Amino acid sequence: MSLSSMVDWPALARRGPSIVRRFRLASGLVLFTYVFLHFVNHSLGNISVNAMESGATIQEWIWRSAIGTVALYGGFAIHFSLAFWAIYTRRSLRMGWIEALRLALGLSIPLLVLQHALGVRFGYSYFGVHLIYRHVLFNIWMANPYTAGLRQLAIFVVAWLHGCIGLYLWLRVKRHFHRFAPYLLIAAVLLPTTALLGAMQGARQVEALIHADPAFLAALRQTGYGGGPPGAQAMLWTIALWCWAGYAAALALIFGARGIRTLVERRGGTVRIAYPDGRRVRVPKGLSVLDASRRAGIPHASVCGGRARCTTCRVRVLVGLERLPPPSPAEIRVLAPLGADRAVRLACQLKPMADISIWPLLPPEITVRDQDRLSLTETGAERFVAILFVDIRSSTQLVESRLPYDVVFILNRFFEAVGSAIIAAGGKPNQFIGDGMMAIFGTDTDAAEACRQALEAARLIDWHLAEMNRALANELQRPIGFGIGVHAGEVIIGTMGYREHAQMTAIGEAVHVASRLQDLTKEYRCQLVVSEVVGTAAGIPLGDFPSHEIQVRGLSVPLTIRAIDSAAMLPSPGTETEEDNVVPIYARST
Ligand code: FES
Repeated sequence: MSLSSMVDWPALARRGPSIVRRFRLASGLVLFTYVFLHFVNHSLGNISVNAMESGATIQEWIWRSAIGTVALYGGFAIHFSLAFWAIYTRRSLRMGWIEALRLALGLSIPLLVLQHALGVRFGYSYFGVHLIYRHVLFNIWMANPYTAGLRQLAIFVVAWLHGCIGLYLWLRVKRHFHRFAPYLLIAAVLLPTTALLGAMQGARQVEALIHADPAFLAALRQTGYGGGPPGAQAMLWTIALWCWAGYAAALALIFGARGIRTLVERRGGTVRIAYPDGRRVRVPKGLSVLDASRRAGIPHASVCGGRARCTTCRVRVLVGLERLPPPSPAEIRVLAPLGADRAVRLACQLKPMADISIWPLLPPEITVRDQDRLSLTETGAERFVAILFVDIRSSTQLVESRLPYDVVFILNRFFEAVGSAIIAAGGKPNQFIGDGMMAIFGTDTDAAEACRQALEAARLIDWHLAEMNRALANELQRPIGFGIGVHAGEVIIGTMGYREHAQMTAIGEAVHVASRLQDLTKEYRCQLVVSEVVGTAAGIPLGDFPSHEIQVRGLSVPLTIRAIDSAAMLPSPGTETEEDNVVPIYARST
């Protein structure tokens, strides 16, 4: 069996970007660990040079072992190769400032670190020159402070900043990151500071040793940078020049390849992407929607920078759904928890091959801090929920006969009693409408549990309000009455509203029906009206209560409901009969 027949190439191609990202992250973490340990070692200079050199022995044991060498230099090769690959594959070089800074810092690291790395590691492996801290401190901070010293300072800042930005871009889309961010920031500032102070302290101690013993300086010169066989330093310099030239050529090659690809793509045809404000962008086939937005200068949310991690770039495809390429595994993985339907796609992953019309689902200025609010409810998702409406009876009389303060006090007690009952049953008090309230059950549970919770909430509301009426008996001329309507069905759950006033709510036929059932409690002179579907889904028999068939606007068939005098009369779950298990045909919209 040939290799090509054993490998699922299309699947591999689809997984390619996420595999590349993982390798890049893993190699970046190895390099960051190296820099981190390096800085920790530098910090030992605040104790003494000897402490630094003792620490360096451990570092050498780690990074000069076979595993350490492969991890470090393999990580370096992988990280920079994949960074070059990312520059090539990225269709638009427009990016946020933080990403641009990370890229610029990253590209400058090989230029800055090359001489130091060649002198310390290559000189050791090939010329037997074993540079230790005293050599490096003398050469950098004392012999050449304005060349090697400044360069080393630049490496300090550039490598650390690049690593920290990379970590930040990786972690910022993680839930709860902002809780730990202040501590990480403190560590990110303290460590390089103590490392730099340690290096300066170490240099001062080396200087003191030189002044105290002239033989120390001679030994430094003999065993340090000038050491090794004749011609070693010239060869290191030649290697450095070749490496820099190779690096520049690789960069030129990548940007040249980008130019060639653009020419080829122009010949391959274009697609048109229409935006909600009427703008139409024509881009080469195969370009992602996010890149199209960037290229056209259309603001588009992309908290993770297009790495299929944050979902903030998601769009709803309005036209052209049937011609879309299938979602990649990475796209499926991040969209699945949102319960998104197939029209919702990640703009950073979607590469249309035909004209489409899209609707970005999140505002472009969305921030990382908004991540905690990002859930299925942000963009709307269809869900089977139970809706409960509760309303005070005779509220007009309540208002007329009281001072405003008393009215507010009583209404707040009412909402407290009802809200706590809803929460205790597992629901979410959602909207306070005048002297009534709407609650949603089932945003996190299945249909059966949602309906059970709604009926349990009705029982608890009755109990809580009875308690409240007893407690306020002296304040009230008569006990506060109420009506409850409960219905269940598919609704759209979404965060709606404006900026900070937005909140999760449900819209759909089931909401209107539940509200209507609450109204019917007045007509049937009962406390609770429940649609039959709620009892059936909950597994709670309602057959003993009077049944009615009502016609609700928007429903094509009559709706069977049960009028229940008191919610306290509701039976407990688990007492269903065979007859009650017959699932009715759900009423549908006309
Ligand atoms: S930009 Fe983060 S998933 Fe697309």
